[in-house]
Amino acid sequence: MIDTFKKEVDQGLKSNPKKLPSKYFYDKKGDAFFVEIMKLPEYYLTRSELDIFKNKTQELIKAFGVKPDSYFELIELGAGDGTKTKELLQALDAQKFKFDYFPIDISSNALALLQKDLSNTLPNVSVQTQQGDYFEVLASLKESKQPKIVLFLGSNIGNMNDETAAQFILWTL
Ligand SMILES: C[S@@+](CC[C@H](N)C(=O)[O-])C[C@H]1O[C@@H](n2cnc3c(N)ncnc32)[C@H](O)[C@@H]1O
Repeated sequence: MIDTFKKEVDQGLKSNPKKLPSKYFYDKKGDAFFVEIMKLPEYYLTRSELDIFKNKTQELIKAFGVKPDSYFELIELGAGDGTKTKELLQALDAQKFKFDYFPIDISSNALALLQKDLSNTLPNVSVQTQQGDYFEVLASLKESKQPKIVLFLGSNIGNMNDETAAQFILWTL
């Protein structure tokens, strides 16, 4: 872990432009900081995505192509506090869809808060938190042959360059 950290920081700071993997920003303080960022007027993304998840929930569910009577896995990469996803979970739960929710996050603090929140607000939803780097956790989740829906919200993909993002999407499929 420390070796990987050293290697990635060394590579990142030697590259041009300099960069650091975003996974190193998130711990208890980093998570709280991101929640504050989401409230900023400049950070339109959360408001836009929340608007879609709140007001186009049925369209989203239709686009997933899932049926209430067949099981699927709902996987979220870098789930954070799940603000937007909760709108979707609520609708899926109310419509009796059969699914497990797998929020993946590098931050164990974010996952603990999310699990606590969901157990209070949506006790019927099965939440299987997965702590770790989403590349690694997703690789293990891919071993299950169950149908999957993968959510990647909040500009996470914007942390990758175009080439890595394209490779990631192809690998996810
Ligand atoms: C920009 S926030 C977005 C949170 C949430 N998806 C949203 O839209 O509000 C990024 C989240 O991804 C997590 N994260 C960043 N890099 C990660 C990685 N490589 N593997 C797993 N989680 C990661 C962070 O801990 C943080 O919770």
